[in-house]
Amino acid sequence: MSESRIKITPAKGRPMLNWVGKKPLEYVKGFPAQLIEVFNPLNNSKKIETPTYEELKDNWQNLLFYGDNKEVLATLLELGFRGKIDLIYIDPPFKSGADYVRKVELRGIKELGSLENDEASVLQQTMYFDIWNNDNYLQFMYERLQLMKELLSETGSIYVHLDWHVGHYVKIIMDEIFGQENFRNEIVWCYTGPSNQQKDFPDKHDVIYRYSKSDNYCFNSEDIRIPYVKLDTGKTHGIFKERAFLNEKGKIPEDWWSDITPVARLHATELLDFITQKPEALLERIIKASSNEGDIVLDCFCGSGTTLAVAQKLGRRWIGCDINKGAIQLTSSRLQKIIKDQIKKNETKYPTFALYKVNNYDLKLLHTEAIELAVQHIGIQRTRTDTFFDGTLGKNLVKIIDFNHPLTLLDLQLLQDELKKRPDEDRDITIVCLGKELAVDAWIDEWNKKHPVNKIRVIELRTDKKYGNFLIHKPAEAKVEIKRKNNKVFIEIKDFISPTIIERLNIDNQLWKVKIADFRAMINYILIDKDYDGKVFNVFYSDVPQKKTDLIKGKYELEVNKDKTKIAVKIVDMLGEEVLITKDV
Ligand SMILES: C[S@@+](CC[C@H](N)C(=O)[O-])C[C@H]1O[C@@H](n2cnc3c(N)ncnc32)[C@H](O)[C@@H]1O
Repeated sequence: MSESRIKITPAKGRPMLNWVGKKPLEYVKGFPAQLIEVFNPLNNSKKIETPTYEELKDNWQNLLFYGDNKEVLATLLELGFRGKIDLIYIDPPFKSGADYVRKVELRGIKELGSLENDEASVLQQTMYFDIWNNDNYLQFMYERLQLMKELLSETGSIYVHLDWHVGHYVKIIMDEIFGQENFRNEIVWCYTGPSNQQKDFPDKHDVIYRYSKSDNYCFNSEDIRIPYVKLDTGKTHGIFKERAFLNEKGKIPEDWWSDITPVARLHATELLDFITQKPEALLERIIKASSNEGDIVLDCFCGSGTTLAVAQKLGRRWIGCDINKGAIQLTSSRLQKIIKDQIKKNETKYPTFALYKVNNYDLKLLHTEAIELAVQHIGIQRTRTDTFFDGTLGKNLVKIIDFNHPLTLLDLQLLQDELKKRPDEDRDITIVCLGKELAVDAWIDEWNKKHPVNKIRVIELRTDKKYGNFLIHKPAEAKVEIKRKNNKVFIEIKDFISPTIIERLNIDNQLWKVKIADFRAMINYILIDKDYDGKVFNVFYSDVPQKKTDLIKGKYELEVNKDKTKIAVKIVDMLGEEVLITKDV
């Protein structure tokens, strides 16, 4: 599939919210999808390089995409999914102004004892930044919601989960795109718990906007009924004295939901250390209400994969997407566990899922992580309130250029525009980047000659003498023994070391073997392909421990039928780094 232009239907119209830089999408570009990994535990599906709707409709595999959802949604349109999605649930960043950090704990640490109660066994991993300027955020949501509308079927529904930060703005954008007449509910999900707010009423609810594509939408009221509230007297409440109103199966939940507890408080078994993880019960109600078995459910901000997990459990087909590698790995391992469980109980209809990336999204560099490392390494003070600059270094303002492209003249132009808006700003500027285009130096020299203040200097991380070497990544290494005897293959993980984990735990390099007595503590899960084609990893066997305290097994025995085959073992560590070991046997 080659890149192409896909036409987008204009938004419905009114009411309409305006912001600086508002621009409707007229066309988007579709990108080729690249198949990276297949989880096919029953070994009964073929590899689908280009997952078109036509190819999949009678031969379904669930789809997980790693990449920016604007590109993924455009790709789905290109692949023929226009009007084919029955339910969309999204829980996008809320513009909360926070960095979302995941606490990563080494595996089995409690059992191993040596690091027990030791803070050092916990690593911090930045999952994503939720710091936006208002205009950018609204444009970001506007573009994606337009694409989602194109994908939604005529009987489909969309649920958008937000809170007080931006909910009211996004509702107006949804009115514009989906039409006010298609607004169905503002669901208030309320919960309780301790709060730091002493001078305000504590914020204890989220909002979920529910829109349909047309009047003819799916709503399964019979599948979501809940018991009537009992009065202290033991009698069933209802303003409605007439028994005729009372349905034996209970009532349809009102549009405020107080009976679903946030993950952190109750669902210990569900907890995945993903800070914005939503409870499965919430998604269960939404999916049951607005889809039927076999329908396609999409979550393109999938995070830890709650929507997809519940869709899988309820026999729906699903498509997920996230921009963050850690989220994709978490979702993938979560779904693998569920599917294996379903297979044991003979319950699954859709046992296969495939992972794709679009637009060559780089799986190796976890972007937010890299920026966070640069901030720490250089000693930049982060500024939370500035929408353009990332922080300060001494007296200088700092701008970090995205590491997925070198510093360009366009970046400098944006900097110049920003400085024009701040005539009183007299600080100098430090730009941090991974590399720079050739023309950049001359532009900066010229600028510095003309400007007595706001002088620009560049820290180019690849070449900088003082700060340059930290991005030299020491890859994780594994020693794996792979032996074959007749039609059996024996695999043993003999050793594993992640210099990044050791460094981040601040453990002395000489001492780590004493501190982490079992190297398996650093390994999150193991995937094995017993017939690797050198390109797409087909997960034939996975060892994803059920509990955080469990370690991977480390020894595996598999049957192979071919005379000669390539075994591939993928080791994914606790920070998401992957090591691939292959051997022809
Ligand atoms: C609030 S979390 C979703 C949590 C999820 N509902 C759960 O239960 O775990 C938002 C997710 O959106 C992802 N995200 C942010 N911007 C994105 C983009 N442009 N494309 C795809 N995913 C994105 C983040 O990486 C994050 O995992």
